[in-house]
Amino acid sequence: ETGNVTLDIGFVNTASCTSAITYIDGDAGILRYRGYPIEQLAEKSSFLEVTYLLIHGELPTAEQLAAFDSRLRRHTLLHEDLKEFFGGFPRDAHPMPVLSSAVSALGTFYQDSLDPFDEEQVDLSTIRLLAKLPTIAAYAYKKSIGQPFLYPDNSLSVTENFLRMTFGFPAEPYDLDPDLVKALDLLLILHADHEQNCSTSTVRLVGSSQANLFASVSAGINALFGPLHGGANQAVLEMLSDIEADGGDVDAFVNKVKNREAGVKLMGFGHRVYKNYDPRAAIIKKTADTIINKDGVSDPLLDIALTLEQRALEDDYFVSRRLYPNVDFYTGLIYKAMGFPTKMFTVLFALGRLPGWIAQWREMIEDPQTKIGRPRQVYTGYTERDYVPVDAR
Ligand code: SDX
Repeated sequence: ETGNVTLDIGFVNTASCTSAITYIDGDAGILRYRGYPIEQLAEKSSFLEVTYLLIHGELPTAEQLAAFDSRLRRHTLLHEDLKEFFGGFPRDAHPMPVLSSAVSALGTFYQDSLDPFDEEQVDLSTIRLLAKLPTIAAYAYKKSIGQPFLYPDNSLSVTENFLRMTFGFPAEPYDLDPDLVKALDLLLILHADHEQNCSTSTVRLVGSSQANLFASVSAGINALFGPLHGGANQAVLEMLSDIEADGGDVDAFVNKVKNREAGVKLMGFGHRVYKNYDPRAAIIKKTADTIINKDGVSDPLLDIALTLEQRALEDDYFVSRRLYPNVDFYTGLIYKAMGFPTKMFTVLFALGRLPGWIAQWREMIEDPQTKIGRPRQVYTGYTERDYVPVDAR
């Protein structure tokens, strides 16, 4: 069963592309990857399986999944020269520009797999990127705290390896917490694709010039960094911390937003498409309770978030503008409870979104209609006028 595609060619509502990967109904709060409801995938699948589904279009058989897993585990290592690359950044560099630079640099090590029209090369680049981005992300974090890098341990899954390379030390064994692995795997599933959002459209647009996969994804990472997009999960934590610093006065903050003081927004609320509850936010909120209160220690920021959400959901200013919690409202609290610093939150979003970027890039490249993506404009400037010499201005 496929949806009927109606393209309204008017400037107001022009679809930028057709795609068979992800379906969103913003009013009904529906999100499906290749036809499978996000709620079912969140409950029954794994990030590895969802990655395969998004890229290959079907859920894998047990043999296909095992082969995919084993191939990924063999590609987690970075070239030793690329490891030196991290030394060039200042210690307090934000990991997102480090990530986008390292992904772009990755392409220079693999001249043998850059041809976007060679299926084998695209497949090899896909595996390399999926396997190495977690290593790059962990190294960006270790660089920011001045700790030694850990080589990947391929007896672990990609998610487990990432946690170990991020939080482990060479001098001692790292005990994987199964609750942490499960929660991170779920969050990665929920971020895996989302139709033509800002960063995915960027990946498609850059790729439409036949730029290689590494260059296109590097551009997508930069788009995701923006605080109105992937950077929102970091901005939510900063917002909650500001409210806490102000004595937890949620009403005072809500009034600042309603009075539009200095462009203050309720971060983690609102969405270009979901004009109702973001289905991902509902799933994440359940996880937030288990992970954050796991050791019986609740986080005051979670209490502030719950109060803020309740307050906004009852306030006509937000309800009349159809502003509801989105995927970013609770994720930061979970990442914080897992031990990640706020600077790593958007990196985690990128790790989740990578399969979607790759699937959408491959779909665009395989589409014979693909030409240079060149959005048109409505010109609103001056009509023709003559040059005025400087002494007459
Ligand atoms: C992501 O596209 C995707 O799919 C993105 C994403 C994905 O998975 O890829 O879902 C991930 O980016 C989620 C969004 C994360 N960003 C934030 O949480 C930042 C805060 N949200 C806003 O910046 C905003 O809601 C947007 C940009 C996300 C969406 O804006 P809209 O819904 O297109 O609407 P708009 O900017 O035209 O605003 C409509 C009205 C305006 O008020 P008026 O001028 O009409 O009086 O709503 C107000 C806005 O001022 N408004 C907000 C608000 N968001 C919109 N007011 C206060 N707080 C907010 N968060």
